[in-house]
Amino acid sequence: MKFTKASPLKGEITIPGDKSVSHRSVMLGSIAKGTTEISHFLPGADCLSTISCFRKMGISIEINGDSVIVKGNGLHGLKKPAGILDCGNSGTTTRLISGILAAQDFDVTLTGDDSIKKRPMKRIIEPLSLMGADIKSISDNGCAPLAISGKPLHGIHYTSKVASAQIKSSILLAGLYAEGETKVTEPYRSRNHSEIMLNYFGADVKTEGTTACITPAKELYGNKIAVPGDISSAAFFLAAGLMVPGSEILIKNAGINPTRDGILSVCRDMGGNITLLNENTDSGEPTADILVKSSSLHGITIEGAIIPRLIDELPMIAAMACFAEGETIIKDAGELKVKESNRIEVMVRNLSAMGADVEETEYGMIIRGGKPLHGAVIDSRLDHRIAMTFAVTGLCAEGETEILGAECVNISYPGFYHDLQSLFQ
Ligand code: S3P
Repeated sequence: MKFTKASPLKGEITIPGDKSVSHRSVMLGSIAKGTTEISHFLPGADCLSTISCFRKMGISIEINGDSVIVKGNGLHGLKKPAGILDCGNSGTTTRLISGILAAQDFDVTLTGDDSIKKRPMKRIIEPLSLMGADIKSISDNGCAPLAISGKPLHGIHYTSKVASAQIKSSILLAGLYAEGETKVTEPYRSRNHSEIMLNYFGADVKTEGTTACITPAKELYGNKIAVPGDISSAAFFLAAGLMVPGSEILIKNAGINPTRDGILSVCRDMGGNITLLNENTDSGEPTADILVKSSSLHGITIEGAIIPRLIDELPMIAAMACFAEGETIIKDAGELKVKESNRIEVMVRNLSAMGADVEETEYGMIIRGGKPLHGAVIDSRLDHRIAMTFAVTGLCAEGETEILGAECVNISYPGFYHDLQSLFQ
């Protein structure tokens, strides 16, 4: 896929469903009693991996476009799958499902693609084992494939070194089945979609500061879920709107959950002209339309508590910083190294190939903006967010930018290139 310098981007985009909320709606729907009707589900490859795992455990799940109906079998209604469960490229599937599987009365093997087999799973093996789980990395390298043999669990108070919703959610899901209370404390607050949806389905989760606490549930109950648009997908249009001179884009129905909205603060702090319209805070997952107009940007420092609120947006933010005056410093972002690719290394390598002044640091990057970029061949390393970041960056560079492995956007945003092109004049 190739991109060249764009004329102003104009128009409206309806953002596809949130990936984190879509995963959780299928997982909780499957272990709830009764029917869960999901609208605006994200039919990306990652969420389809979650569906395929639960279908293999006997759950009836119908997909019709972005509508999904899950017929749950109750908290103890999963069946031993006939074969291995394949989580594909999805860290969320692997880590969250492990919390559920740790407490079942069968054993199972979980695997995934080459990227998943390199991602750290010790971070869930350790706390789940402390709860009494029997979960092992088959190759003994702390990664998938994982062998899980369901066991009775007991609650713990776990203090996590990293702020990670996947770790927290895995433990809370295991806590649904455990004896006694289960608590997770994180250094900073990570996304709280699990807590919101668990309570909506009838569980009892309380949050105090950076600690979430669950008491075991007797049963969860299926419900209707309207998935908000994914702010992590909206981020590419926010950046495109700010970066391409003369642009004006209306991004419809983006989720603005305060544990996910760091990108809005960063855009504003960099001098971006963004306005929230039609804010809807009626449900647990607030949404808004976002109007973005091209702006002259300046560099900022991004660090600390905001990092988990924008972790998936950092590749796009790093590229945006190349078009901002002055220095942007990203700190405390070591987690980027263990995403679908090592996103610090991949961003620094690819931005440098386009002529940017960017430096890798131990836990982040320093970007000195204002230098014009030129097109280059970009190896996405089959990381969806890297491919989308460079599609947008290519619209602001002289010459041609070619993205290798461009089809990997199917993981989180199958219609991305179509939607981006719909804004071309
Ligand atoms: C996710 C949490 C984040 C995020 C990922 C989705 C989730 O990962 O990067 O894309 O759905 O819980 P970590 O919890 O590992 O930071």
